[in-house]
Amino acid sequence: MTSSKMPCANGKISIAPSLLSADLFRLEQDVRQVETAGADWLHVDIMDGHFVPNLSFGPSLVGCLNGRTTLPLDVHLMVQYPGRFIEAFAKAGASLLTVHLEASEDIRAALQRIKALGVKAGISIKPDTKPEALAPYIDLLDLILVMTVYPGFGGQAFLPQSPAQIKGVREVIRQSGRNIWLEVDGGINKETAAIAAQAGADALVAGNAIFKAADPVLALKQIRQAAADI
Ligand code: DX5
Ligand code: ZN
Repeated sequence: MTSSKMPCANGKISIAPSLLSADLFRLEQDVRQVETAGADWLHVDIMDGHFVPNLSFGPSLVGCLNGRTTLPLDVHLMVQYPGRFIEAFAKAGASLLTVHLEASEDIRAALQRIKALGVKAGISIKPDTKPEALAPYIDLLDLILVMTVYPGFGGQAFLPQSPAQIKGVREVIRQSGRNIWLEVDGGINKETAAIAAQAGADALVAGNAIFKAADPVLALKQIRQAAADI
């Protein structure tokens, strides 16, 4: 991602539609629709059936999108052994690669590998992981992805403890003095977008609330507006 894509550089929250909720039979139309609506990134959820009880996409989907959309590809690795796949996703064209702090691997090594490949590096925490656990990785991070549902499925409800979790992560970022994006993922709609933005988010993932809406363009604009109106 280029610096012009930095959230909050112009006071604007970034919106990342999640392709997990797109209609794969008409993927191109769905992507064009959110481009037209002013999406900032495309969020690509990768699930391995181990870290989460579901399967989704692989590097081939990222490769198909690469060069066909102007939007940066924000790849969320919900996988037990992310290190095995970092190179493939980097080669496929990921702009940002986010690994889970709870994955069964040396996460510092994974983050270093991502950065060495010239890709922005992110770390994600599940709802029960304390924000303080991020401290050992903070020097390597471009982004922190706060899960506001238990990862694995689209269409779940924003958990009630999420505002406190977002505020806790915002405080960890503030204390670090570093410029790190705070992205929020799970159950975002026009009501919860305002709550997440108020708590300190500067990028929002939304799947069902955009792609399952009768009018996805309007839905994306309403989420952006709700986040800006705080
Ligand atoms: C959940 C994924 C999310 C999901 C969000 O495990 O990481 O990105 O697609 O979907 P919604 O917005 O429908 O909760
Ligand atoms: Zn995600």
